Amino acid sequence: MPAELSPVDKAKFVAAKRAVEFVENGMRVGLGTGSTAAWMVRILGQRVREERLRIKGVATSARTAQLAREERIEVVSLDEARWLDLTIDGTDEFDGELNLIKGGGAALLHEKIVATASDRMIVIADAAKEVAHLGAFPLPVEVIPFGWQTTKALIEEMLVSLDVLGREVTLRMNGSAPLVTEQGNRILDLHLGRIGNPRQMALVLNQVPGVVENGLFIDICDRVIVGHGDGRVTTRDIYTGEVEHDRYDFAEPENLFADLTD
Ligand code: A5P
Repeated sequence: MPAELSPVDKAKFVAAKRAVEFVENGMRVGLGTGSTAAWMVRILGQRVREERLRIKGVATSARTAQLAREERIEVVSLDEARWLDLTIDGTDEFDGELNLIKGGGAALLHEKIVATASDRMIVIADAAKEVAHLGAFPLPVEVIPFGWQTTKALIEEMLVSLDVLGREVTLRMNGSAPLVTEQGNRILDLHLGRIGNPRQMALVLNQVPGVVENGLFIDICDRVIVGHGDGRVTTRDIYTGEVEHDRYDFAEPENLFADLTD
């Protein structure tokens, strides 16, 4: 393990650590995808082993499922779990209403299905993910391969009438080939700069034939936990409006890092 984590990794770690404290025995838990969610899976795995916590995890991607199994978390399908108590996931951006852009890791379709099937969604993030307006991060849209160029043209046409700063749409690549999602689809990234009306954008995008889902998560996230490199954690609840402040001491969890870091 590296002797010292970077401030960003510390921020992700403490956000994940705080979120895992919300997991209780017997829960069915949605497991997000990405580097912040990976910390969460590792910390949750440690609780499962040390506290003999009995939980069922529903993974949002093959890589999260693999990590969860390595951590000895029981992984079940969403169809087996049917409904979840809690989903914990990262984000690419969140705004003051806890609306999100997700899908930087191309798992947005599974992530949205799993989060929507959960009583609560907690988002974990470092402070850089907070924005006044969504849209600086390119908005991922999952489209089926059939006629994807026509779908792209329809999206571009649709963007003309919407309140955005930019309108470039690009096909996400994986090296020299188009990226293929776990459902065999493609990802279009919408470089919008600023999305004036995210709710409208989310609805309109899903009306375009060929679009499977978009990366705007509107009214899905209940709570956001923001970690900082010095161990501070801020938890914000959208319903109660409460903001809690916690702090984790890095002196003591060094051994934890030793266990958790690749
Ligand atoms: C995966 O498709 C994404 O939605 C991730 O949750 C998001 O990209 C955040 O990833 P990081 O935690 O790695 O920044």
